[in-house]
Amino acid sequence: MEMQGRDKAYFNDAGDGAWSNFSREMESIRRSQKRNCRIVAILLFLMTLVILALVIVAGTQARTIRRLNDRKGLLPHPNVTFASSSGDRTIDGLTYGGSLFRGSGFWTPRDDLPAPLTDECTVGVEEKIYIIGGADVNGTVLDQFLVYDTTLHSYTTLTPIPEPRYRFGAALLNNKIYVVGGRQDANESLPLPTTTYVYDIAQSQWFKGPDLVEPQSDPCAAALNGKVYLVGGYNAGYDLLAKVQVYDPASNSWSYAPNMPTPRGDLMCAAFDGEIYVLGGYSGNATEPFSSKMESFNTVTQKWTTRPDLLTPRGDGAVAVLPGRKLLLIGGEGHYKNNDTLKYGKHTNEVFYGADGTWVEKALIPSARFRTAAAESGGLVYTFGGSDTCIDKAVCPALQTTAVFLDVDHPHVYLYLKNDPYNDNALPIYPL
Ligand SMILES: *[C@@H]1O[C@H](CO)[C@@H](O)[C@H](O)[C@H]1NC(C)=O
Ligand SMILES: *[C@@H]1O[C@H](CO)[C@@H](O)[C@H](O)[C@H]1NC(C)=O
Ligand SMILES: *[C@@H]1O[C@H](CO)[C@@H](O)[C@H](O)[C@H]1NC(C)=O
Ligand SMILES: *[C@@H]1O[C@H](CO)[C@@H](O)[C@H](O)[C@H]1NC(C)=O
Ligand SMILES: *[C@@H]1O[C@H](CO)[C@@H](O)[C@H](O)[C@H]1NC(C)=O
Repeated sequence: MEMQGRDKAYFNDAGDGAWSNFSREMESIRRSQKRNCRIVAILLFLMTLVILALVIVAGTQARTIRRLNDRKGLLPHPNVTFASSSGDRTIDGLTYGGSLFRGSGFWTPRDDLPAPLTDECTVGVEEKIYIIGGADVNGTVLDQFLVYDTTLHSYTTLTPIPEPRYRFGAALLNNKIYVVGGRQDANESLPLPTTTYVYDIAQSQWFKGPDLVEPQSDPCAAALNGKVYLVGGYNAGYDLLAKVQVYDPASNSWSYAPNMPTPRGDLMCAAFDGEIYVLGGYSGNATEPFSSKMESFNTVTQKWTTRPDLLTPRGDGAVAVLPGRKLLLIGGEGHYKNNDTLKYGKHTNEVFYGADGTWVEKALIPSARFRTAAAESGGLVYTFGGSDTCIDKAVCPALQTTAVFLDVDHPHVYLYLKNDPYNDNALPIYPL
């Protein structure tokens, strides 16, 4: 055999001593091979144990969740009950106490914007997020148009919007971005714009769309069932609007849709669960100027429905739709108790679970912000810039930072408390 031949050659060249060295080496190689075999066997055994443990844990959890679904597995604590859905918030004699997974999720910083930016809009299209307009560090309104690539982690400057724009609405319809409403200067010497600009993503080009029937500043926009909706905001004199204007590509024109039930400005919109959801905003109420209301518009029945209140009232926040019928509401503006003029950015974020009709508070964002915008891409939510907290200043500092939120998927398990007036809505407003 070839192996023997080589052994012989070794023997002939090097003599007796070398042969015994050689066989000792062979022996030690054999021993180390045996040792390696044993280590591999032990590792395989340990891996089997780990897999077995994982299977047991997963099985137990699945059983627990099934039991919770059946509402039979009450835990042996006299004052607390768990349930898998809060669709019925009134279980006899129990107070809804919130989610078992309250505060979950992770925030991490991402690539800073090229320059500080506030009051912009964002639109997510697959792995890209378009960042439209806004104001710079001096409060100058911009015609800037950027795109952030979430996979390459880079910003690219695109053809500017034909007119500067901030505090407006933006929505994606048929691979086109609609830019509508808002203001074109910060000193308010120019009239509110009624122009609509449309960016065709496939052609990388801006087009002029039809004019609005009337202007709306600080509104929100969303697209659903082939139409763009522009909701609420203020008129030139800062009166609150309940107005809704709708763009129909078939007639290439704007017309009115039924008013929302509560007039408000600085509000947030999303196409969610088959309806246009409208969240929070400034309502001008003397004791609670920011609204905790959520209302939704069904574009088929043309009816508005009142939905569960936000946990924390706010305006000028960011909203994004997450996979799994979840709506994430980020930051926004709050005010100090009994003083509407002292406003600050919020750290608080909350998720609305469409399946359960329930709001759950999530992890705090490390840097509070308002007048910010967010978009979902690949299951993560990105938020860009916005305004930092400022008290009694004409221009709040624009932020250059971005943050990304990763939610944690888990069973929806809610706490119900006996003999306890505890309620999420009774939580104090940060920071007072
Ligand atoms: C249950 O609630 C009652 C009333 O609030 C309280 O007095 C009692 O200590 C609670 N029991 C436990 C085990 O926490
Ligand atoms: C902001 O204003 C300052 C002072 O006028 C100026 O130096 C700076 O370049 C401006 N920044 C931007 C981004 O325009
Ligand atoms: C208002 O802002 C516009 C655009 O930023 C500028 O051209 C104009 O001079 C400003 N007007 C006043 C009165 O400051
Ligand atoms: C103002 O807000 C308070 C507290 O949320 C509420 O009780 C009151 O009804 C509101 N007033 C109006 C006019 O909406
Ligand atoms: C709110 O704060 C402003 C600015 O500090 C102050 O001038 C005003 O008196 C305060 N209002 C109330 C109702 O406390």
